[in-house]
Amino acid sequence: MQIINGQIFLEEVPVTTLAATYGTPTYVYEENRIRANFRRALAAFRKYYDDFRFFYAIKANNNLAVANILRQEGAGIDAASVNEILLAQKLGLGGEDVMFSGNFLSDDDIRQGLESGVIFNLDDISLLPRVIKLGRPEFLSFRVNPGYGKSEVGDFVTNAGPGAKFGVHPDQVMDAYRLAKEAGVKRFGAHMMPGSCIRDPEYFRFITELLMDIIGHAARELDINFDFIDLGGGLGIPYKHEDHLLDIEKAASLVADVFQKKIAEYGLKPPRLMMEPARYFVGDAGYILGQVHAIKDSYSRIIGTDVSMNILARPAMYGSYHHIYVNGREDEPRTKVGLCGQVCENTDFWVRDRELPSGIALNDIIVVENAGAYGYAMSYQYNGRLKPAEVLVNGKQHWLIRERETIEDLVRNVTVPKHLQR
Ligand SMILES: Cc1ncc(COP(=O)(O)O)c(C=O)c1O
Repeated sequence: MQIINGQIFLEEVPVTTLAATYGTPTYVYEENRIRANFRRALAAFRKYYDDFRFFYAIKANNNLAVANILRQEGAGIDAASVNEILLAQKLGLGGEDVMFSGNFLSDDDIRQGLESGVIFNLDDISLLPRVIKLGRPEFLSFRVNPGYGKSEVGDFVTNAGPGAKFGVHPDQVMDAYRLAKEAGVKRFGAHMMPGSCIRDPEYFRFITELLMDIIGHAARELDINFDFIDLGGGLGIPYKHEDHLLDIEKAASLVADVFQKKIAEYGLKPPRLMMEPARYFVGDAGYILGQVHAIKDSYSRIIGTDVSMNILARPAMYGSYHHIYVNGREDEPRTKVGLCGQVCENTDFWVRDRELPSGIALNDIIVVENAGAYGYAMSYQYNGRLKPAEVLVNGKQHWLIRERETIEDLVRNVTVPKHLQR
C-alpha cells in the first residue's frame, strides 16, 4: 500500500479505481507482497537449516488465485479438512505436498483423507485404531500438544496447552508412536501448533525445544526416525502500528540452533524442518475496501460503513484490531469516533473511540488493513448480507478473483416443500 498526495494505492492501483470497478465491500490482495513475505521467511529459515519447507495453511485464505501464488513459490498445503485437500488438488498438489491436520474426524473424513494419499497428521491417539482399520498408512504424523500455547490475537485463538481441544497429550505421545509402529507404520512425522500471531522470536525457540524433547525421547526409546518435524504456523504480524515486526531472521536462527542441538543430543537422523504459517504470508497483503454510507450523531458519532461483521468477523469474534485508512483524508486532523457495519448486532459496532480523520464523510472510501488472513475465509451471510468480491493486484494490473455473491447464492441449495409454496 502507498499513499500519494492523499490517494491510497494498492500496489500501483488507486483504491478509487478498484472501488469504481468492483464496488465495495471488496477484499484486495497484493501479489508482490505475498511473494515478498514468503521469500523473506523462506530465506531466513533456509539460511540456518537447508532442509526446510513451508506448507501454506489454506484455511486462512482459500482463494485459489492466492494459494497458487504460494504454490508457485514452492509451498505445500496444510489442509484442515477433506475439502481443503480437494482445494490443494485443484492447485495440482497432493501426496506428500499436502498435510491433513483435521481434528475430531469422522470415518468419512478418514476414508477420504486416506484415499487422497496425503500425509495424515493425527490429532489424537484414539484416531489411530480407526485409521489403521480403514487404511493403514505407511507415513503418519501426530499433532502434539506440548502443554503450552500462546496467542497475541486473543485467548480464544490459543491452539495448544491444557485449555485447547487440539493435539496429543505429551504423556500419550510415546504410546501413540509405539502403537503406530506396531501397526506397521514405517515413516513418521511430528507436528504442533502452539502459537498464534507470535512476534517474539524466543517463543519459537522455546516451543521447538519442547517438541524436540518429547520427540527425541520417543525416537530413542522406540528406535524410530522422524522424516519431518512441523512447528506449525503462528509467525506473527503487527496489527497495531505501534507494534514491532517479528524478527524472522532471529526466529529462524534460534529455532535452527536448538533444533540441531536436539538432533545431536538424541542422535536423530536429521529430519526435514517444516512450518505451516498463513497469516505471515497473506495477512498484511490483504485489505478490505469499504464505503461510508451513513453517519449518525447520537450518544456518540458513529460512521456507518459496508464493512460489516459478516465481511470481517475477527473483531466481533475475538476483539481483534484492524487499522483503518480513509482515502483522501489521511492528512486531516483526527477526532475520536466509532465505526460500524450494517448488520443487526451490536458486535457489528466493531470500532470504538478510534482517531479517524475529522472530515470523514458520506461516500468516502475506507481501507481496512491486515485483512488477508482469516478475513474472507470467515465471512458469512447473516442478515442477508452477501459475501464480498475478491480482487488481486500486481503493479498496475488487477483481476477479479472471486465474484461478489448475489441473491442466488443466498437461496442456493434451499428447497421449499410444495405445501409451503402457496
Ligand atoms: C494446524 C494449523 N496450522 C497452521 C495454522 C496457521 O496459523 P497462522 O496463520 O497463525 O500462521 C493454523 C491456524 O489456526 C492451524 O490451526
